[in-house]
Amino acid sequence: MDVRPLLLVLSVFGLSWATTLDLDYGGVPLWINRFRGEPSVFSLRGRMDHSSYQAVDSQSCPLECDCPIQWPSALYCDERGLGSLPTSLPARTQYLFLQSNNISGLQADAFANATRLRWLFLDGNQLLSNRVAAASLSNLTRLENLFMNHNNLTAVPSGLPHGLMQLRLAHNQISRISPGVFQNLQNLTLLLLQGNRLKTIGKADLKGLLSVILLDLSHNLLEKFPKHLPPSVQQLYLSNNSLRGLSKDSLQGFHSLRYLRLSHNQLRNPGLAPGALNLSSLVELDLSYNQLTSTPTVPTTLLYLYLEANLIQEFNVTSFCRTVGPQDYSRMRILRLDGNKMASHQLPPDWVMCLRVLHHLYI
Ligand SMILES: *[C@@H]1O[C@H](CO)[C@@H](O)[C@H](O)[C@H]1NC(C)=O
Ligand SMILES: *[C@@H]1O[C@H](CO)[C@@H](O)[C@H](O)[C@H]1NC(C)=O
Ligand SMILES: *[C@@H]1O[C@H](CO)[C@@H](O)[C@H](O)[C@H]1NC(C)=O
Ligand SMILES: *[C@@H]1O[C@H](CO)[C@@H](O)[C@H](O)[C@H]1NC(C)=O
Ligand SMILES: *[C@@H]1O[C@H](CO)[C@@H](O)[C@H](O)[C@H]1NC(C)=O
Ligand SMILES: *[C@@H]1O[C@H](CO)[C@@H](O)[C@H](O)[C@H]1NC(C)=O
Ligand SMILES: *[C@@H]1O[C@H](CO)[C@@H](O)[C@H](O)[C@H]1NC(C)=O
Ligand SMILES: *[C@@H]1O[C@H](CO)[C@@H](O)[C@H](O)[C@H]1NC(C)=O
Repeated sequence: MDVRPLLLVLSVFGLSWATTLDLDYGGVPLWINRFRGEPSVFSLRGRMDHSSYQAVDSQSCPLECDCPIQWPSALYCDERGLGSLPTSLPARTQYLFLQSNNISGLQADAFANATRLRWLFLDGNQLLSNRVAAASLSNLTRLENLFMNHNNLTAVPSGLPHGLMQLRLAHNQISRISPGVFQNLQNLTLLLLQGNRLKTIGKADLKGLLSVILLDLSHNLLEKFPKHLPPSVQQLYLSNNSLRGLSKDSLQGFHSLRYLRLSHNQLRNPGLAPGALNLSSLVELDLSYNQLTSTPTVPTTLLYLYLEANLIQEFNVTSFCRTVGPQDYSRMRILRLDGNKMASHQLPPDWVMCLRVLHHLYI
């Protein structure tokens, strides 16, 4: 069987999955750019007719919030300068919008009356780790999506409910993950930790995560390629760290890895073990903005390779094709080599045979 169409279909599917409309938002379509990791969460205010934005029942709508008639399961309390949670959250609430407030803590009984919560948005508050009670979230058995980007957390919150599917903790000050904190989150598929202060990932830190597909650890302080990552991961983002290399076993066992981003690190050729990137599941590899001096060896099945802004002056066809023949060629479609130390006339003559299905070459 020719694998080309299959890979292409998979990659198109992968990309469309990355930027998709999420319809599970209290009935309101919401744009979440999963590829970049950052959600666009807006309040309904300003987007609809005010008359349809009245409280369902003023008795059961907290004073600080809005309760749209059409979406009684949604409670909008965002951008109101709130220093704490509204008192008496209605039990019907499944979507709770608290982003862009001034909330610094969550008490143990914070959500005691909101046991049906499924989506909780706390982005852009001032949450402090020592003021978020471990018991505040643990009883929320239906909670699937927890947004805590852009807060002041220094550790991953403990007592996370076991049904979580998405956990967004980007842009905090997290410098440690308590071992076992993810122990029972076997359904978690998306974990965002970019923009924090992680220096290492310990052996037990991510233990228990069996389903993670997207793991974003970019913009941290990692100096070594982290070990002990969940083997289920398909999209692994490690850009903007201080990685210097990859050892032979760095990617061993990642049989599902499709998108690997390593741009803006300090990767050099001596640090890249031969065969370190030899992973046949890879679709896209971003090595831009590093200090590579020659093209690294990549699998022939790779479709997209970004090598711009390195110090490359040596283009070795063996990097892309071990041998060249009727069936032996690189499946590469996009290759970026711009911003390096070589020009197109320096390409060896045999590159055309190897990279015969290339759509775009930037040099
Ligand atoms: C939960 O509801 C009860 C009864 O309505 C109320 O007395 C209590 O204050 C509520 N607790 C919270 C944390 O809102
Ligand atoms: C936010 O809360 C802090 C105290 O926790 C207070 O000093 C500050 O004035 C509040 N800021 C706003 C904008 O309400
Ligand atoms: C969580 O549930 C347990 C068992 O139902 C209960 O004892 C405990 O008080 C609950 N905690 C909170 C903070 O509601
Ligand atoms: C949270 O961090 C911001 C920026 O680092 C800071 O201005 C703010 O005072 C912090 N808030 C708290 C409650 O510590
Ligand atoms: C994980 O997902 C499965 C399938 O949707 C569900 O049956 C199970 O209850 C979930 N586990 C937890 C801990 O919520
Ligand atoms: C990554 O780091 C580089 C250099 O430190 C910086 O110029 C770049 O803006 C960063 N990338 C992002 C997306 O912030
Ligand atoms: C790459 O991996 C394949 C099988 O996964 C193996 O046959 C091949 O020898 C490896 N190549 C290198 C250069 O490590
Ligand atoms: C290309 O790489 C192969 C294997 O790494 C090496 O044997 C060969 O000498 C290199 N060729 C050039 C022109 O650098």
